[in-house]
Amino acid sequence: MTIVRLRAEGPADALAIRQLLAEAFAGPDVRLPPEARLVEALRGSGAWLPELSMVAEVDGELVGYALLSRVEVWPGAVPALALGPVAVRPARQRRGYGQDVVRAALDAAAELDERLVVVLGTPAYYRRFGFSPAARFGLTSPWSGLGDPWQALVLPSVDGSDDPVPSGEVTFPPPWSQV
Ligand SMILES: CC(C)(COP(=O)(O)OP(=O)(O)OC[C@H]1O[C@@H](n2cnc3c(N)ncnc32)[C@H](O)[C@@H]1OP(=O)(O)O)[C@@H](O)C(=O)NCCC(=O)NCCS
Repeated sequence: MTIVRLRAEGPADALAIRQLLAEAFAGPDVRLPPEARLVEALRGSGAWLPELSMVAEVDGELVGYALLSRVEVWPGAVPALALGPVAVRPARQRRGYGQDVVRAALDAAAELDERLVVVLGTPAYYRRFGFSPAARFGLTSPWSGLGDPWQALVLPSVDGSDDPVPSGEVTFPPPWSQV
């Protein structure tokens, strides 16, 4: 049986994450893909939450990756999280590792009492985690115009309290528009 180890990234993982993202998002451009550059730019920024940079490891090989990083909802600069990038090594795709690593990241966020996660991605993939169109929550962003790919998820609160979920404009820190 294959054992998948899901854990936050450690100090020795940065290069393997870079390689994984380069493989998963490889295109005709020989440069490092924007998703890999985004992770490296976020890692050095105030939006980085080390516990929420999640890896999936099988037999010591890093096979999957999911990142949650800080964004804000305005008015009020209410903290929320953005999911992405999410990636699995091409040779290891369609074996559930993508779902495993995303669920591990979302569970870790809920443990930290985070309440709101946004993502820009294919609804057919992200709805299985409970994401639905962010417009339903009154959330806008530079990507609102794309429609359904702009999605949000409300995480269960640790203590069962029912705090209101913020709505408004979600702002992404500079690395998102600079890479
Ligand atoms: C998207 C990705 C992370 C999924 O990881 P994975 O380990 O291959 O997927 P899982 O095994 O967890 O899930 C498989 C399911 O996801 C679906 N799926 C996989 N990639 C999908 C995609 N791009 N769009 C929609 N559905 C997708 C499969 O059809 C399958 O559906 P089923 O459960 O109904 O049969 C992976 O394919 C990948 O790294 N792709 C390239 C990078 C990318 O596009 N990342 C997402 C954008 S940030």
